[in-house]
Amino acid sequence: MHLVAAGHQLFKGLRAKVENQMRAMRQRKVWGEAPQLWLLLLLATVSCTLWASVTARTGPSHDKVVVCYISTWAVYRPEQGAYAIDNFDPNLCTHVVYAFAGLDITQASIKSLDPWQDLKEQYGKGGYEQLTGLKRSHPHLKVSLAIGGWNEGSANYSSLVANSYLRERFVKQVSSFVRKYNFDGLDLDWEYPTQRGGKPSDRENFVALTKELREEFDNHGLLLTSAIGAAKKVIDEAYDVRQISRYLDYLHIMCYDYHGSWDQKVGYNSPLAAPAEDPFSVKFTIDYLLKLGAPPSKLVLGLPFYGRTFKTVSEGNLNDGSDGVGFRGPYTREDGFLGYNEICNVLSNKTSGWTKQWDPQTSQVLARSERNVFTQDVSVVTFDSSRSIANKVLYAMSKRLAGVMVWSVDTDDFLGNCELDGDTFEDFKVVSSAPRRLSQSYPLLRTINEATVLALEQLAVPEPVPDDSENEIPHGSIADRKNAAASIVSLSLTATALFMLLHSLAH
Ligand SMILES: *[C@@H]1O[C@H](CO)[C@@H](O)[C@H](O)[C@H]1NC(C)=O
Ligand SMILES: *[C@@H]1O[C@H](CO)[C@@H](O)[C@H](O)[C@H]1NC(C)=O
Repeated sequence: MHLVAAGHQLFKGLRAKVENQMRAMRQRKVWGEAPQLWLLLLLATVSCTLWASVTARTGPSHDKVVVCYISTWAVYRPEQGAYAIDNFDPNLCTHVVYAFAGLDITQASIKSLDPWQDLKEQYGKGGYEQLTGLKRSHPHLKVSLAIGGWNEGSANYSSLVANSYLRERFVKQVSSFVRKYNFDGLDLDWEYPTQRGGKPSDRENFVALTKELREEFDNHGLLLTSAIGAAKKVIDEAYDVRQISRYLDYLHIMCYDYHGSWDQKVGYNSPLAAPAEDPFSVKFTIDYLLKLGAPPSKLVLGLPFYGRTFKTVSEGNLNDGSDGVGFRGPYTREDGFLGYNEICNVLSNKTSGWTKQWDPQTSQVLARSERNVFTQDVSVVTFDSSRSIANKVLYAMSKRLAGVMVWSVDTDDFLGNCELDGDTFEDFKVVSSAPRRLSQSYPLLRTINEATVLALEQLAVPEPVPDDSENEIPHGSIADRKNAAASIVSLSLTATALFMLLHSLAH
């Protein structure tokens, strides 16, 4: 970035110089030196064109995906917890997913679950078009609409996929719906086929749905992705991994909620690793999916921007018995759940009495309160810190996955209220140039992008050797960035030539 900034300064300085010289020349009536002036104008035009091509590049500086979910009901949270689409920073994500739309099973159609928030009709806020409108200023961004989510349940989706006539209607309707609002694709968030009121036949019917959506979407260049449960039981029963991998562009693996208040004991929300035989870990899930035939280039590792909460009368250690409910936060107000922003606020407060400890095996943090003198309870939260996130990104890169996904950006410290962690890259081998933050906001999302670059450096992923033939360069690739660097170099050269010319004119 500093190269770009320097280029910008140089350009501004030069423009001022040119204007001064022109004014001076007009006064001295030296328009006779026409050839030099034309050359000067030509050079200026070339510089501007190059400059525009450099600044048009938006989004992360690496070529991995960063899929950002927005839980759009976050707009109703109180005070500093409220998150509107205005709060979203498109530069930190490659893909953004608007969560959630619902299913109208009587019509076999996708529908808005909050027309006032989502649509423009009847003076609505038009959230769909506000989010897809960000593509104008950020051409790198892909925007999808998610259908489903936990509250939508499973039974209606089960009925939809069981009937080929309903599937056909749905496929046509959803395709025109996403295009109507200028979305780039659809994200299926059925939680989960065969579970929670679903049927065993959902497994193969879900394949049929993804296949038919793919055929329709290919006519319009639309993206088709799906959120995928991480529990071994869900994977075994719900997904024909090899088949759905054929039709989906990406599988967003929900690698969290491995443990929570429902276990009635303290456990880690999203442990990176676990002892052998324990399937409740990120590494188990990813290795298992790879073994079942998912191509790494389609797997996207999900990262939680939240923790799971517990209340215990014991000391607040791992595996201590807990009450089965946990506690809620002031913004998200959901039992057993705390957003990272709520967690970092309480941990940044020196008088709150909270302490935290890092667990190297799982890359998780366990934080606990002092014992409440009235209830005798200790409150506990297990969560992902910046260091947890960085380590998981390193793992995803080591497995050559497509990238990472986050649930969800609205519980990052998007306002930048908390102190930044000092240990983020503690477990990285070489941090040649420790990234310097220009902003305190979005500490976890920024960590993802920094860690992606550092992890790829550390793993020394062999870059494709460019040969002399005309290669098609994918957007945002390493080769692309080299071209950008080359543009800056030629811009500087042009600027120098321009400067020298002006100098000779002046004397
Ligand atoms: C399933 O569809 C029925 C009929 O439209 C509806 O009443 C019900 O609320 C739906 N279920 C869920 C969980 O949304
Ligand atoms: C910090 O924690 C103390 C004790 O819980 C509380 O009274 C105070 O309001 C908190 N301060 C902030 C800024 O939240």
